[in-house]
Amino acid sequence: MYIGLDLGTSGVKALLVDGAQRIIGSANASLEVSRPHAGWSEQNPQHWLDATANVLEQLRRSYLVETAKVAGIGLSGQMHGATLLDAADQPLRPCILWNDTRSHEEAAALDADPKFRKLTGNIVFPGFTAPKLAWVKAHEPDIFAATRKVLLPKDFLRLWLTGEHVSEMSDAAGTAWLDVEKRCWDASLLDATSLDLSHMPRLVEGTEVSGKLRPELCARFGFENAPVVAGGAGDNAASACGAGTVAPGTSFISLGTSGVLFAANESYLPNPESAVHTFCHALPGTWHQMGVILSATDSLNWLSGVTGSAPGDLTAALGAELKTPGSATFVPYLSGERTPHNDAAIRGGFCGLSHQDDASALTQAVLEGVAFAFRDNLEALKAAGTTLTRATAIGGGSRSRYWLKAIATALQIRLDIPAEGDFGAAFGAARLGLIAATGADPVAVCQPPEINETIEPDAALTDAFDTAYQRYRALYPALRGVSQ
Ligand code: XUL
Repeated sequence: MYIGLDLGTSGVKALLVDGAQRIIGSANASLEVSRPHAGWSEQNPQHWLDATANVLEQLRRSYLVETAKVAGIGLSGQMHGATLLDAADQPLRPCILWNDTRSHEEAAALDADPKFRKLTGNIVFPGFTAPKLAWVKAHEPDIFAATRKVLLPKDFLRLWLTGEHVSEMSDAAGTAWLDVEKRCWDASLLDATSLDLSHMPRLVEGTEVSGKLRPELCARFGFENAPVVAGGAGDNAASACGAGTVAPGTSFISLGTSGVLFAANESYLPNPESAVHTFCHALPGTWHQMGVILSATDSLNWLSGVTGSAPGDLTAALGAELKTPGSATFVPYLSGERTPHNDAAIRGGFCGLSHQDDASALTQAVLEGVAFAFRDNLEALKAAGTTLTRATAIGGGSRSRYWLKAIATALQIRLDIPAEGDFGAAFGAARLGLIAATGADPVAVCQPPEINETIEPDAALTDAFDTAYQRYRALYPALRGVSQ
């Protein structure tokens, strides 16, 4: 038996999987995000531990016999968060999350130093970890001075699980301190933020053993023999392991809080100018590229909050058939944007509203706006040398067929929907736990799922979507002029 633990932004999920990769059970516990100021996004690391204890307790209660036999645990987590620990490994402040853009000035300053793009292969985005530390140094100097270790969210979870300070390549690649090609911390990048190697955890590959579950937790959660904890992966690389996106040329599109268009690559192919992210994959000696939009299902959740209707009710009200885009256009930059704009200050908007537009027209515009943001990502990947013709659709938003049809039509690619099952980050993490515990061949374990259905672009609406996409593109420069 194996467990995949995914520390997401909106909750922690645990998946219990057997040796044949069949899902035996799962458990969830939700998490809140605190936004004390515009552009800020934080979580209390203690809440991650409480939520993880909660899901492990649920598994113990429901699957006593199976849980006792767990041999490996894999970790997945929201990327980039800065968890600052003191000498006693206690968090010094709330974690600054991936979609927090307060450090945009520090990010621009680091990005202006050519060694960052050269060694990391990426723009220093405000959401990445290094500029957050530069912000803490400037605004909370006492906290900076007390900082002894900086951990990514799932690596703080690992510290609680195993007692070890360890990270792995895929998540470490999103800090802006890793030499992404050589897969090691770079002392000169750390030095640029007044840190050194002592502040960093040890590095392993995602498939390697990072430690063993502490005896106290084995007793508490009913594990008979201390399971090994695999390196695991950042949530996007973990999702790729779950969806079988490991062979070069394969890709997935994830409709989660953030939106990700992910391509597995044969080699290290950096192209920071396109605002594409180039990171280590979770499997040794492999890399991937991805475009990231900051508000995917978060845009629909926002509309849900404003209208008081559940997201599922909003999408259901559109019916099954894809509609021609109307005059209303939505731009999803609710917390700024990464790919392709790298713009923390930009904000979203509705444009072209008319008297006829009702709640359902707004929903349609939101789904289309997110689809067009993905089209921008597709173009950015193309500029970085990667052309996609199909992708596996994953993430909570992919339950909406309407949304998938809009995306397939806006991007002119086919979207494969996996057969019933759970092929996301927690499943990928469980696979990494299995590999670490058994030494199984990673590629043989991370096979693509059976595909239930393929969504084709709607040929009759291609031109209308193209015209609407051009309108959408014209809005960024216009919004830039009026965003504060
Ligand atoms: C990736 C990113 C997000 C988070 C979401 O660069 O910031 O996808 O990992 O959890």
